[in-house]
Amino acid sequence: MIRISILGSTGSIGRSTLEVVSRSEGKMEVVGLSAGRNIKLLTQQVEEFRPKVVSLEREEDAQEFKQSFQMYSLEVRYGQEGVQEVARLEENDIVISAITGINGLRSTMAAVQSGKRVALANKESMVVAGPLILEAARKSGAQIIPVDSEHSGVFQCLARESQNHVKKVILTASGGPFFRLPTEEMGNKTLEEVLNHPRWKMGMKVTIDSATLMNKGLELIEARWLFGLEPEQLDILIHPQSIVHSLVEMKDGSVLAQLSQTDMKIPIQYALTFPERGEALLPSLDLSQVKTLEFYEVDAMKFPLVKVARMALKEGESVSVALNTADEVAVRAFIEGRLRFMDIPEVVTEIVEGHQVRKMESLEDIFEVDRETRSKTRNLIEQR
Ligand SMILES: NC(=O)c1ccc[n+]([C@@H]2O[C@H](COP(=O)([O-])OP(=O)(O)OC[C@H]3O[C@@H](n4cnc5c(N)ncnc54)[C@H](OP(=O)(O)O)[C@@H]3O)[C@@H](O)[C@H]2O)c1
Repeated sequence: MIRISILGSTGSIGRSTLEVVSRSEGKMEVVGLSAGRNIKLLTQQVEEFRPKVVSLEREEDAQEFKQSFQMYSLEVRYGQEGVQEVARLEENDIVISAITGINGLRSTMAAVQSGKRVALANKESMVVAGPLILEAARKSGAQIIPVDSEHSGVFQCLARESQNHVKKVILTASGGPFFRLPTEEMGNKTLEEVLNHPRWKMGMKVTIDSATLMNKGLELIEARWLFGLEPEQLDILIHPQSIVHSLVEMKDGSVLAQLSQTDMKIPIQYALTFPERGEALLPSLDLSQVKTLEFYEVDAMKFPLVKVARMALKEGESVSVALNTADEVAVRAFIEGRLRFMDIPEVVTEIVEGHQVRKMESLEDIFEVDRETRSKTRNLIEQR
């Protein structure tokens, strides 16, 4: 029996994880769930999966939730402390870290420090705190298994390979909804058009980041730390079919690739069952139906955030924090109608280019840069 806690259970990854659990034929059990504000969905999840502990973002929601759940002794927590408690549950075999953004950092760290397996979807933790998380994992013995489909692909390609066999890792990107659109037509795209992702059904933030290709920029940084690679060893290819998730070029010229249906249940299940493999939850991939697999270079004019992310990939330290925070603030402003779609890259670029690099030695250093950058980015957006 694998005992699991899910941080972000009401989100896209959280829901897919629960689907994997419910189809595991009793081999997996949920011990803890953490949600933000979606009480209705958390209620359904608790009724179905009967965890021991749940956590909500706000105290008032936690109180309301506790009153409505008196049928068994469910422990209800709230806030950052609450999520961290779920992350540290003694009973956990695996913690799925799937809260969006830097909000998931403290709980990811708590899970890593507890020495359990962490199935990592919250890429932002690795982006802003890669070296600190790796150091914590080294001390606690925690195993970090990527959930991002591209990184799961690389992880699978490297499973039987020595690190020094790797020449290059290529992450694929679908290109988002505007890949085939002329750059000048992208400026005034609405939220609805941006959210209409051609391949993946995901949370709002990661879907918007997929349309600007910022998501791939963040993934380059995530891959650097997860696989111990140099910035020059990492590349991106646009692959509109999203069947090949990543490619690894070996020093002898062989290229390994991982292919699968476009469905997050596959990498989630792999992260939960590794080194075993569960039974397939989807029909077999039929390449005779797919027929064409295309690959294109990234158009740097159309997707300027890739260059900015590469700068952060090279500099590391506080530059990665500034990149992540500026993007979080700009995307939020776009969602709230305060910024045009194509202004997101301009805002993020200006913030990152104006940022003075500092060494990041603790989570507190990271949150200080996050606070400063949040305020600078908000001011910049207000002035536009
Ligand atoms: N979706 C994908 O296919 C995919 C693929 C690869 C990687 N990822 C990564 O996985 C992470 C989650 O993505 P997602 O698409 O699942 O996002 P999502 O659908 O927006 O879900 C986010 C989850 O985090 C919770 N949450 C948000 N803010 C919180 C806070 N302050 N405190 C506690 N909980 C909070 C939300 O709760 P409520 O909804 O209850 O408020 C929800 O459960 C992201 O880092 C993303 O980049 C996602």
